[in-house]
Amino acid sequence: MSEKIKLKITDRQGQKHDVDVEIDSNTNLMEFCRDNSFGVEGFCGGMGSCASCHIHIESSEHYGNPDDDELAMLDDISNSKTNSRLGCQIEINKDIDGIKFEIAQEP
Ligand code: FES
Repeated sequence: MSEKIKLKITDRQGQKHDVDVEIDSNTNLMEFCRDNSFGVEGFCGGMGSCASCHIHIESSEHYGNPDDDELAMLDDISNSKTNSRLGCQIEINKDIDGIKFEIAQEP
């Protein structure tokens, strides 16, 4: 039986969604949001170079450790905050069970 985790997502209209997602290390938060009608485009295909998957993490324990390339990209986004991440850089695994995040408005 496959294992599931919970995601708590606030969409760009401010609507909150609690969803159960199967753990899949080949999938990241951008892909989940793109494929489930959350309006995330993922223009660069998850290469970390377009920022269309910008999210704000609202659960501090799930902020993770963005690498230098991701931090540089986040620095270039006008509505970036200290809790910003690129959804494509966050794999869907059990470490993020219960993660709460808001899909950032497009700048
Ligand atoms: S999909 Fe382009 S930066 Fe995440």
